[in-house]
Parts: sequence; C-alpha cells; structure tokens
Amino acid sequence: MYIEGASNIAPMHDLVMLWVNIITITAFILTNAVMVYFVIKYRRKSADQQTSKLAHNRTIEVVWTVIPSIIFAILFIAGINSFNAMRSIPDDALEINVTGRQWSWEFRYPGSEATGGIPVTTFDDLILKEGQPVKLIMRSTDVIHSFFVPAFRVKEDVVGHMYTYVSFTPYIADSQQEQGYGEYDIFCTEYCGKDHSYMIGKAIVLPEEQYYARLAEIGDQAGAVSAEAGEELYRSQCQSCHTIDGADLVGPSFQGLFGSTRSMTDGREIVADENYIRRSILEPSADITAGFQNLMPVFNFSDQQIDSIIEFIKEQ
Ligand code: CUA
Repeated sequence: MYIEGASNIAPMHDLVMLWVNIITITAFILTNAVMVYFVIKYRRKSADQQTSKLAHNRTIEVVWTVIPSIIFAILFIAGINSFNAMRSIPDDALEINVTGRQWSWEFRYPGSEATGGIPVTTFDDLILKEGQPVKLIMRSTDVIHSFFVPAFRVKEDVVGHMYTYVSFTPYIADSQQEQGYGEYDIFCTEYCGKDHSYMIGKAIVLPEEQYYARLAEIGDQAGAVSAEAGEELYRSQCQSCHTIDGADLVGPSFQGLFGSTRSMTDGREIVADENYIRRSILEPSADITAGFQNLMPVFNFSDQQIDSIIEFIKEQ
C-alpha cells in the first residue's frame, strides 16, 4: 500500500523506490521472456541431437556486466542522496530528544516562548511544526528499538550507550491539507519484547500558530497535578507492566497497593507510601518486590507527574 509522503526526504526516497521497481520489474519480464523463448527455440528436437559447443561470448559478457553496473551505480548515487539528506542537519534545525523504552516513546522539546522557556515532554505523540527542520536525538534506556515514520520515509535504530539521530523537515501531506494538520504513524520497528507491537505513536504536524498553542497547552498541563493526569500517564507508560485489576504481569498490580505492606526480595518489609512510589519510579532497582524481577526502566518524570501518579495509585 502506498503511503503519501510528508517530509523533504519522501520525494527522494520515492524516486529511488520507483526506479528500483521499474528496473526489477523490467528485468524480471525480460529475463523470463528470453528464457521461455530459448526453451522453445533450443529444445532438443531429436534423441541423437548434440548440444553445440560454446565456451563463452565476450561481447555478451561485457554487455551484461557493464549495463547493470551503470544502472546500479545510478541507483547507489540516488540512494546515498536520500540517506545524506537524513544525515545533514540544517542550521535552523530544532533539536528534539527522543527516548525509547519498553514500551513507549518520550519526546522532549527545548523551552520556547510558548512554554515560558521551560522544556516540555510528550509521550507517544511527536508534535512538529510544518516546514520546521528537526533533528531527533535518540537513545534507549533498555533494549534496541527503532524509530520509524513511514510517511516521513525516516527510520533509525534507537540504542543504549550512544545517541543516534535523524534530521528531516515535516510537511502536511496533500490529502490532509484540508483538515489543516498532518497525523502520521510512528512505529517501533525493532522487536523489543512483549509489547513491541504496542510501541506506537503519532507524529502530528501543525501549522505554526496551532503548534505553539499546543506546546503552551502541554506546558500548562505539565504543571497540573491530578489523579486524571496520573491516569493518562498510567495508560501510556505503566499499564503494559502494572494492572489495576489485581493481576500481576511483569510488575505487581497497583490494585490496593497504596498503604499496603510490601515484602521485598531481600526480606525487608516496606509500607507503600508516597516515598516508596517516588523511589520506585526514579530508582526502580532500589526496592524489588518479592516474586518479581528487577526489570523496570527508570522514568524521568517531573515532580508534578510523579505526584499525579501517586494520586492515581491512591485511588486503586
Ligand atoms: Cu521498541 Cu519494538
């Protein structure tokens, strides 16, 4: 299925794909047609017919070596062009930090006028300004992930211990001009465990005015503490490992968690209070509940976000 392009990379990438398709389809048809023709023309016509002795033919060998070499060289140049476009960073590129973890995406935007100079964070939704070049600086807190937006024709592995990056300029695709904004799927395209297939998101491309309005809105919400805000974070960040119905998954359920006495793997007994929850988020390996493994990644939530999650957990 063809996905409409929505970045500066897309036309270059599509051109290479078009050429590859034309060349491979043409070559497939030609070679098969010639094969069928030869099978008929040179079939053995009588039982005593001898195969003619033909060692080689220099002209044909040169032709079938040189012509494909030229074609592949052209494809290589076109391909490296679109690759270099992802690698070259315009001077005015906006830097957005991307963190991949099991199993969500976190996007951190530099402070801007819209947010009162304070950096803001979104989960799973990447907010972009139409026509604004961006550089995504990416890392993983655990296993290898891969950031893939088919509409942008952009894909790059996200690994621990080093930063990887991609650069591109997002646009609103022609078919979405009417609705006034672009919305494109983000996939994790490296198998990364149980919820790999749920490690998805949306890249939302907005016109300038809406873009700053959205950032301002995110900035306001970041400071608000409520159980509802906590629930939203829970839905995007926690629920693949922690249920609220009492069932234990990778981690313990949140049902009845707050205020209960927890047994740790090292034999300690801890009351699950605010400090316990805060520590479990910022330093997950500090207290491991008996019966579970030390698998939780660190979440760099703001103080307000942690307060919201505590409010949410209290209600379970
Ligand atoms: Cu992350 Cu697959």
